Amino acid sequence: MPHSAIWISSSNELSVQEIQEQYKPLEAQTLIKVAYSGINPADLKHGEYMGILDCVAGYDFSGTVIEAGPGSRFSPGCKVAGLTAAMNPRPHKHGSHQEYMIAPDSMVFAVPAHMPMDIAATLGVVMRTAIDGLFCQLGLPDPESSSASGGILIWGGASGVGTVAIQLAAAAGLSPILTTASPHNHNEMRKLGATHCFNYRDDDVLDQIRAFTRQSGIQLSMAFDTIGYAGTPHMVDWCYSCCDEGAKVVTTIPHANALKCFATRMDDITFDGPNGRTTYPARREDAVRTSKILEWAVENLRSFSMPTVRTVSGYEAAIEAIIESAKGHSSFEKIVVKHDTNN
Ligand SMILES: NC(=O)c1ccc[n+]([C@@H]2O[C@H](COP(=O)([O-])OP(=O)(O)OC[C@H]3O[C@@H](n4cnc5c(N)ncnc54)[C@H](OP(=O)(O)O)[C@@H]3O)[C@@H](O)[C@H]2O)c1
Repeated sequence: MPHSAIWISSSNELSVQEIQEQYKPLEAQTLIKVAYSGINPADLKHGEYMGILDCVAGYDFSGTVIEAGPGSRFSPGCKVAGLTAAMNPRPHKHGSHQEYMIAPDSMVFAVPAHMPMDIAATLGVVMRTAIDGLFCQLGLPDPESSSASGGILIWGGASGVGTVAIQLAAAAGLSPILTTASPHNHNEMRKLGATHCFNYRDDDVLDQIRAFTRQSGIQLSMAFDTIGYAGTPHMVDWCYSCCDEGAKVVTTIPHANALKCFATRMDDITFDGPNGRTTYPARREDAVRTSKILEWAVENLRSFSMPTVRTVSGYEAAIEAIIESAKGHSSFEKIVVKHDTNN
């Protein structure tokens, strides 16, 4: 079925292309008619930093299964959402910014009846990353037990990853939850479960956090850097400087001294970065645990919310939005692309 897609060229430029390839789901895969594809900074950053080029752009999606592989747990007509893996080279069929795509069951969830499809398309990447960070890397017990204890610093609470991390940390039982965000987002951060908010743009933000923990006697033995860096020092260093000695810090952007969390851990991740070829080995048990926690959260956390969702229609508008997202210009916002579909 020839269809349109947003294409990443070998020089990391985006354009609209016609895809002629006939996609066919293998074993535990499905062919999906895409309703919405979710935009992430990675859509373009992975071309620049990981050399993932010459492929259809996009990871997150929601849509309807139109054909299931022989080993799939889904059937035609199921409403599903999820993401596909970052890999290099990346088969065309796995990009989400196109009308039809193929996704592996291991990264797909059934969209519950209470969840709108546009919101479902924003969840895959940020939820899996936040879950990997909190539960697989920092080692929290499953959130349904509500049995975690202690405080956490979540750097960048208004990011997509941060928004999910605050809510899951609160569900798991952590308190206090300190976060950094622009002041106009502090009320939203508190609604999600943050107990104390700081403005990361204040020159003395680190002193403010340290003074607060000292005066209130709070032990801060873990931090989640959801930002990495954006023309700034790596936030991991800032997180360590706010925490107690021996604290565990996890980050979304690799740093030599921190734990690393990823949206996809089912397979090895190999990429060509500025320092040569790097491979992060698969953590399959963690990937399975991540899926279990994600499915529990979308079904059971009824108060769960995401940043404001903005919908763009038309691939030219989508290309502009992808570029803006990669530049880090969004504030407490997720953008989805509406596809030409009756889903
Ligand atoms: N390892 C992985 O698999 C993985 C997966 C997902 C994302 N990531 C990476 O993780 C980062 C976040 O991704 P995302 O999709 O969650 O981003 P996003 O939603 O686009 O993040 C936007 C938010 O970042 C906040 N922000 C920007 N600079 C900040 C700083 N210096 N300190 C604190 N907050 C800051 C802004 O908060 P205010 O509006 O309050 O100013 C803004 O709302 C990106 O670097 C992304 O590439 C990695």
